[in-house]
Amino acid sequence: MTIELAPSILSANFARLAEDAKAALEGGGTVLHVDVMDGHFVPNITIGPLVVAALRKALPNAILDCHLMIENPDNYIPAFVEAGASWISVHQEACVHLHRTLQLIASHGCKPGVVLNPAHGCKPGVVLNPATPVHMVDEVLDMVHHLLIMSVNPGFGAQKFIPGALQKIKTLVEVRESLGLSFRIEIDGGVALDTVGDIVRAGAELLVAGNAVFGKGDIRENAKKLLGAARAATLTRA
Ligand code: DX5
Ligand code: ZN
Repeated sequence: MTIELAPSILSANFARLAEDAKAALEGGGTVLHVDVMDGHFVPNITIGPLVVAALRKALPNAILDCHLMIENPDNYIPAFVEAGASWISVHQEACVHLHRTLQLIASHGCKPGVVLNPAHGCKPGVVLNPATPVHMVDEVLDMVHHLLIMSVNPGFGAQKFIPGALQKIKTLVEVRESLGLSFRIEIDGGVALDTVGDIVRAGAELLVAGNAVFGKGDIRENAKKLLGAARAATLTRA
């Protein structure tokens, strides 16, 4: 299992976004998590395709993991693809026709035989809020590149980790195994030095972290420490 850190720019200094993002990648982050909020699906407004396009220009090879916390995502998916998103995830709770939405994202993916920068060519993901059972997405698990478990209620950074997410990760690991699938399991919310051990031992591989990376202190060091703690935890038993 490859553990990867996905620094969430939500907690970065937006006035020097590219520099902060670069620092997080230099500290060992391999995926840049981009939180898109519309003030309707979640009670906060953040950024849109323009910022994704600016990040893509500043970081041509970065994997941009766009987490859409918006209503009617189908209306905006093409704009995020155009802006340079690498991965696009949508909330199960926001999609009446989730299967169709995932097809839409995948339709923008890499075409066989076409060599693209691996950071480009959209990969679909689905996200579950803390109150949504894992089995709500059973029928689309074979369509997703990653399954994102929210371990806080979406909308804000620096919230407290909800421990019920651990059981959801464990259930997903079992379901993935029983179905012979290979989607990756991502966790988002409250990932920090004191929670990352349990998270990784439960089976999450993609660790989104905002406050723990950008909150205070040196961004590179924070990322390095968190990733180190996560990797060390894979060596110990749950
Ligand atoms: C919350 C966002 C998260 C957020 C996590 O709605 O989806 O990505 O940045 O922040 P931390 O790591 O600070 O809990
Ligand atoms: Zn997020």
